[in-house]
Amino acid sequence: MGGIVGYIGDKQAQPILLDCLVKLEYRGSDSCGIAVLDNSIDLYKDAVRVRELAKVAPQLSGTAGIGHTRLATHGEPSKANAHPHLDCSGNIAVIHNGVINNSQRLKQQLTAEGHHFVSETDTEVIPHLIEKYYDGNLEEAVEAALRDVDGSYAIIALTVGEPKLVTAKKDSPLIIGIGDRENFIASDVPAILDYTNRVIYLEDGDIGVITKDSMRISRGGTEVNRKQHLISWSVEEAQKAGYEHFMLKEIHEEPRVIRDTLVGWVSEDKPAVDLAVMRGGIESMLILACGTSYHAALIGKYVMEELLSIPVRAEFASEFNYYGQTLARTGAIAITQSGETADTLKAMKKLKDVGCQVLAITNVVGSAASRIADQTIYTRAGSEASVAATKSFMAQLMALYWLVMSYSKIDARRLADLIMELRQLPEKVQQVLDNETKILEYAKYVSRYECVFFIGRGINFPVALEGALKLKETSYIHAEGYAAGEMKHGPFALLGSDTPIVAIVAQDNTYEAMLTNIKEIKARGAPVIALAEEGDEAIGELADSIITLPRVDAIFSPVVNVVALQLLAYYTARQRGCPIDFPRNLAKSVTVE
Ligand code: M6R
Repeated sequence: MGGIVGYIGDKQAQPILLDCLVKLEYRGSDSCGIAVLDNSIDLYKDAVRVRELAKVAPQLSGTAGIGHTRLATHGEPSKANAHPHLDCSGNIAVIHNGVINNSQRLKQQLTAEGHHFVSETDTEVIPHLIEKYYDGNLEEAVEAALRDVDGSYAIIALTVGEPKLVTAKKDSPLIIGIGDRENFIASDVPAILDYTNRVIYLEDGDIGVITKDSMRISRGGTEVNRKQHLISWSVEEAQKAGYEHFMLKEIHEEPRVIRDTLVGWVSEDKPAVDLAVMRGGIESMLILACGTSYHAALIGKYVMEELLSIPVRAEFASEFNYYGQTLARTGAIAITQSGETADTLKAMKKLKDVGCQVLAITNVVGSAASRIADQTIYTRAGSEASVAATKSFMAQLMALYWLVMSYSKIDARRLADLIMELRQLPEKVQQVLDNETKILEYAKYVSRYECVFFIGRGINFPVALEGALKLKETSYIHAEGYAAGEMKHGPFALLGSDTPIVAIVAQDNTYEAMLTNIKEIKARGAPVIALAEEGDEAIGELADSIITLPRVDAIFSPVVNVVALQLLAYYTARQRGCPIDFPRNLAKSVTVE
C-alpha cells in the first residue's frame, strides 16, 4: 500500500515529486522518500510524513525522479525500509507498491550470488534482480526481473545513464500522465492532476517506458496501444474547499453527489438501465465488498429482497475468497469505491473463473474492478480523499437503489412514489446537514466515552455497523454495531452508565421492537441517543437525547441516518483531536490481501 509517483521532463523533479506525494498520502503513509536522477542517483528518505521530509530534504538536482509513500507491510516504518531502494552499485533505484510473495526465497538466492540487503522489505529484491539482469537496457532488465517475481506490484525503476523511467504493474493501480515535454507515472489521478489531466491506465502485465517526450507501453516485448482518458475532476475538487478536513467537506458534498449520481439515470418517470447481470434467468444475487462498501452491500440486500423478491447474499470479499460457493444462476455485484481493493478484485476474478456475470459499482473510472467486470456502474462521488468513506458510500447507495428500482416489478404507483422520494433525497440530506450544530453537541458528549454501541434493525442494521465503523476509525473509540435484537444475547453484560447506545429508530415494521430494545437498555443504566424521525413522540419518552431526522420512506432511511452518524463520528474525532483524514494504521485503498 502507499503511493508511487515518477516524473521526467524539463523541470527540477524534486518539488514536483514532493507535491504529488502529498496528494498520495491518503493511500496510507508512515514513511516516504524520493530519488532524483542526474549523473548519479541522489536519494533521500525517512520514516516521516511527506511535508516533514520536504522541510529537511537536501536539494537533489535532476529533471527525472521517483517518489514513494509507504504503509509498512514487510518491516517497521524506518529510514532503511522506506523507498526508494537501491541495488548494490547504487545505480538502480526502485519504488514499489504491492507485496512480493517469494521475496524470502529470492533474497536467499541473491545473497548467495553476492548481493547485499540493507532493509527488511520485500521490495528490495527488485533492484537487485534488475541489477542481476542489467545489460545496458533497463526495460529488458525490469522485464527479466519481474519474471522471477511472484506477487503484486506497481513499480518504477530508473538507472544512471538512461534518461527514462520504466514502470510495470500487476494487481496494483498504475497510470501514466501525459504532459507537454514532460510525463508522469502515478498510483492514481489526483496525484498528478495539477500537472496534467491526460492519463493512461496500465493493465496487468504492461511495461511502460517514459522519457520527457515519449511514452511506450509493451507486453512481452510487443508494443500495445492503451486509450488516453481525459479526466474531468478539477484540481479544486480534490482539495478541501475551505473545510477543516476532507471528511467534513465530503460529507457536505453528499446532496450534490446524490444529484450527480442520479442525473441521467432517472428519467422523468422511471429509472432506466439494461444490465446483463440482471437478465437471463438470475435466481439469486451475490454482492461482494469490503468495509464500508460491504455495508452498502448489506443495504442493497435488503432493498433487493424487498423490491425484486429474489434471495440476496451480501458477503465480505475477503471471506468469499476462502470457501466454496454454489453460484448457479447467481448474478454477482462487486462494490468498491476505489476499484482497487485486493480482496474484492480477487473475489471478482474467482466469480469470472466460474462463469458468473459480474457488475462492478465503483467510483474510479478505468479502475481494476471496472476492467475485470462485465459491466460497470460508475458512481459520481468525485475524488474522495479522507480515508473514512462518506460520500462514496452515499453514491453506492444511490447506484443500488437505482439498479433495483430499474428492475423492480412492484406496483407502478409505489414505484413512482419511490422515484419521487429518491429525487427529494438531496434536500432531505441537506436538512440533516443543517442540523450539524446539534450533532456537534452530541459528539462532545460521546467523545468522553471509550465504548459506544450502535444498534439498528432491518435495513438500518447495516447503518449501525457503518456508524460504528466511522466512529472507531476516526475517533479511536471502541464502537460496536449490533443488530438490536442481539444485544440481549451477550452484549448486555457490558451495559452500564459508561456505555452510551446510539439507537436507530426507523418508522417501519421494526419500530415497536426497537422501542422494546431501548427500554431494556435503559433498564440496565446505559444512556441512549436515538436517531428518530420528526414527529416521533414515543421516542421522546424513552431516549436521553434525540437526533431528529426528516421523514423519508423507510427504504431510504439509511440515507439520512448515515449522514447523521458520519457527522457524529467526525465531530467526536475532532473533539478528541484525532488526525481525522488520515487515521493511524489505515489506508484509503487496501491493495494487499
Ligand atoms: O475502495 P473500497 O470501497 O473497495 O474500500 C473498501 C474498504 O477498505 C473501505 O470501504 C473502508 O472500510 C473505508 N475507507 C472505511 O471508511
